[in-house]
Amino acid sequence: MFRLEQKLALITGGGSGIGFAIAQKMVEAGGQVVITGRREEPLKEAVAQLGSQAHYVVNDVTDLANLENLVETIETQWGTIDILVNNAGINMKKPALEVSDEEFHRIIHTNLNAVFALTRTCGKRMVARKSGSILMISSMAAYYGIDRVPAYSASKHGVEGLVKSLTMDFSPHQVRVNAIAPGFIETAMMQTAMNSDPSRMNKALDRTPMGTWGKPEDIGLAAVFLSSDAAKYITGVSLPVDGGNSIGF
Ligand code: NAI
Repeated sequence: MFRLEQKLALITGGGSGIGFAIAQKMVEAGGQVVITGRREEPLKEAVAQLGSQAHYVVNDVTDLANLENLVETIETQWGTIDILVNNAGINMKKPALEVSDEEFHRIIHTNLNAVFALTRTCGKRMVARKSGSILMISSMAAYYGIDRVPAYSASKHGVEGLVKSLTMDFSPHQVRVNAIAPGFIETAMMQTAMNSDPSRMNKALDRTPMGTWGKPEDIGLAAVFLSSDAAKYITGVSLPVDGGNSIGF
């Protein structure tokens, strides 16, 4: 029940960080994965590491008009998409009063508009087939207030809202929708946010009862579980994978 044999997963932004670790753990669990990203070279290298169960398609999720084409290409070439992982995301740390409309829009477009558009595209097919699992990657920024990330926070709250709303629409058709809310996970994104800001780094670690940063594989393992038949009655949840950070004092 915990394995992913006979299942195909589409993982956006799967060439690096958390997305790559999700791909890795899904492959180890016996699944096939298709990873996407904007640049071919990192995707090629990632697939070379992941082995023959992995494939890639160059795709920018913000190109909403091309998402139907992406899904059609994948399903024609490798079979039906059983699992969608909306992992691709961007962040920007800037005092709220200095964030321009363009900057706000750019984050929302990648982290929320594209997530909805791709979920709708895959969701249509999953609902018709009466089977599927959709995973969002949320954030602690959707659980409590973090300064200087207004657009990112708004986008991740939006993703949490989508989980609740889409669960109502899709569950009658046996399509599950869940989120993982990673705590502070050692990736390029986290390093960019933390390296220049030791006080933020200490604050994050201080309120993490386990006292260490998470590893991308921690998110990968949770993603395997939530996408597997072992989680067949789990829908509409947001699972923190955070070493206790979300309830830390
Ligand atoms: P990362 O920067 O290593 O990975 C993000 C991936 O998304 C990259 O592969 C990037 O190429 C891809 N991407 C960005 N824009 C894209 C676009 N328009 N089209 C296609 N691909 C695009 O960052 P990380 O940390 O692995 O983040 C992955 C997800 O996890 C994001 O949604 C992020 O918000 C979330 N997250 C990360 C946390 C952390 O501590 N690292 C904490 C909470 C959430």
